[in-house]
Amino acid sequence: MWKRIILWSLCALLSVVLIGAAWAVLRKPAAAPPKDIAVLATPERLERGGYLFNYLSDCNGCHSDRDYSRLGAPVKPGRVGVGFVMPDELGLPGRVVAPNLTPDPETGLGKWTDGEIIRAIREGVDREGNALFPFMPYPHFRHMSDEDVEALVAYMRTLKPVRNPLPRTELALPVALMIKSAPQPVEGVVKAPVKSDKHAYGKYLVEIGGCMDCHTKQEHGQPVAGMELAGGFEFRMPQGVVVSANITPDVETGIGSWTEDGFVSRFRQYSEMAKAGGPPVTAETFTIMPWLATSQLTDEDLRAIYQYLRTVKPVSQRVRTHPDAGSSQR
Ligand code: HEC
Ligand code: HEC
Repeated sequence: MWKRIILWSLCALLSVVLIGAAWAVLRKPAAAPPKDIAVLATPERLERGGYLFNYLSDCNGCHSDRDYSRLGAPVKPGRVGVGFVMPDELGLPGRVVAPNLTPDPETGLGKWTDGEIIRAIREGVDREGNALFPFMPYPHFRHMSDEDVEALVAYMRTLKPVRNPLPRTELALPVALMIKSAPQPVEGVVKAPVKSDKHAYGKYLVEIGGCMDCHTKQEHGQPVAGMELAGGFEFRMPQGVVVSANITPDVETGIGSWTEDGFVSRFRQYSEMAKAGGPPVTAETFTIMPWLATSQLTDEDLRAIYQYLRTVKPVSQRVRTHPDAGSSQR
């Protein structure tokens, strides 16, 4: 009698566990149907889209084939948006591949609708409704305005189609299951803040500019709460190691003592290099900070970013940005 009860209880327990496991594996992330939209490629949109793709939002940073042996890692000629397999050294939980975004129909986005591309960028699901690994910064891109994301799509359609077959992302467990909670539909109309509201506009740029992602330390793939923009995110690449800087207004360890003009010229330092191509990197200079790209941002945008960064919580955290270099402690 008791044996039976125990046996049945065990069976019941096992089925609950199995059903739970099946649910975790088969469950689809939250997703809304893609927008039914055909983006019109106006000259303004193409220009804005190019600005976002190449300068502000650093889509090149992950989706393009770049020359990491040179300062600022310029994109290799003809290799914009062709996709990239993240190097093992980065220590991501599995094989992470930033897909080909060019309009090639077989290996790129040629067959995707505009609505599907918009949904992938802001909501983090692919064409089949599967969750994308949030290393793709969609939790921040969800704040991108309708106008901006449409401009991006218009621009991406003009990229040279490049056939570049790549493997798919394959994440280790449990991360592969955990990411299913990350996608969230974007509802209603999304507008960018007006430029005259420097604080709100600067925050918007920091959000869609990837600054928040790279400049906030992560633990188990999650940003560490309270450490926003305080740096300390370590990027280990085959070419070297670099740690993101503290860009909170802390005077000792952040950029609290930087003036607005000093901030702008720190970026402008790379404007010429963006055209000519950077010199070979050393342990001292290797970086994944998109200096070449951000050197092309408008004055208005850099100043708004600075204004916003002045207002975030100062965090005291000393970062050695180039741990392999001799004495670059700051
Ligand atoms: C920090 C790296 C990173 C940045 C920056 C980034 N992406 Fe991604 N993106 C990825 C990765 C990795 C994936 C694939 C995730 C996966 O397979 O789960 C992806 C997926 C996508 C997809 C889905 C494509 C497909 O075939 O499934 C689109 C579209 C996309 N990104 C567009 C963009 C655009 C546009 C930008 C710039 C606004 C951008 N990404 C910036 C890393 C990045
Ligand atoms: C792909 C990752 C990445 C992105 C995106 C990124 N940064 Fe950085 N940033 C770094 C790293 C790593 C460093 C440290 C190495 C260096 O100075 O080149 C750095 C350094 C800096 C510095 C120099 C700080 C100092 O103390 O010298 C500033 C300022 C800065 N970033 C601002 C920004 C802003 C603003 C944005 C958004 C528009 C941004 N970064 C986006 C990775 C990134």
